Amino acid sequence: MTSIKHVGVVGAGQMGRGITEVCARAGLHVTLCDVTEDRARAGLAGVADSLLKAEKRGTIAPGDRAHVLAGISVTADLSRLAGADLVVEAAVENEQAKTALFRQLDEIVTDPAAILASNTSSIPIARLAAATGRPEAVVGLHFFNPVPLMPLIEVIPSLQTSKATEQRVRAFAGEVLGKKTIVTQDRAGFVVNSLLIPYLLAAVRMVSSGTATAEDIDTGMTAGCAHPMGPLRLADLIGLDTVAAIGEALYEEYREPLYAPPPLLRRMVESGLLGRKSGQGFFSYQAA
Ligand SMILES: NC(=O)c1ccc[n+]([C@@H]2O[C@H](COP(=O)([O-])OP(=O)(O)OC[C@H]3O[C@@H](n4cnc5c(N)ncnc54)[C@H](O)[C@@H]3O)[C@@H](O)[C@H]2O)c1
Repeated sequence: MTSIKHVGVVGAGQMGRGITEVCARAGLHVTLCDVTEDRARAGLAGVADSLLKAEKRGTIAPGDRAHVLAGISVTADLSRLAGADLVVEAAVENEQAKTALFRQLDEIVTDPAAILASNTSSIPIARLAAATGRPEAVVGLHFFNPVPLMPLIEVIPSLQTSKATEQRVRAFAGEVLGKKTIVTQDRAGFVVNSLLIPYLLAAVRMVSSGTATAEDIDTGMTAGCAHPMGPLRLADLIGLDTVAAIGEALYEEYREPLYAPPPLLRRMVESGLLGRKSGQGFFSYQAA
């Protein structure tokens, strides 16, 4: 038994709202926290939209939507996570911001057995654990986007994560959330992003050098390799700021040029062209 009933989610962006949705759909009470009430409420509105789509697809029963939403509270006050059994941090991919959050969560979350997890894509879990007085209870839980649809969670124990913590989160991910888990060592990028990010960055370099258009590069991989989505639409979906941040973290870890974000990606991020979430990246998106 995982004995996890109350989940705190920090960050109500695209990942935080997805994690909130899957936890609430599993019958858990979720407290979703962001830096402002408005952002937290926008996260809840995103969950409501997603549940409506799930209802239309027939993956949730009509009438369940209100029940799931009733299990979610939103706040801008981190101290509301005091009683959580599990906190999943899904704030911006920035090491300073995340270590500051883990330091605060360590003080706020009262149950010493509570687990503090990060959805980081690339920051070593050991660094987040070092900001707390309970490194044995800190673990990586890396969900995939969009969370309600993607079956995988990477579980990342650091060198100090206890076996009990690892087993509890694996049981939680598998038995409660119904996800498939893989366990990976605490290395920047873990398994999936270590393979995926150099591929996405190579596609950006192709656009930059004029090898082909973004549309043709994506068609090359969807029609030529049967990928469900081309690399540039996938980068837009992940968020170009997040792709750049993961590339930076991988480059810092391995010092391999293939991980370094190319100048075009940096300029796009600096210009606010972040992909789907900002409405414009390599492709244009209508406001949701
Ligand atoms: N986008 C993806 O495909 C993807 C996939 C797996 C993991 N991740 C990871 O998930 C995390 C979030 O990514 P995202 O795509 O949801 O980003 P996002 O930009 O959509 O959302 C980040 C949210 O965090 C909030 N935030 C920032 N600082 C905060 C703080 N101190 N306290 C509370 N909230 C704070 C922001 O206001 C924002 O709402 C990152 O670590 C990212 O690497 C992203």
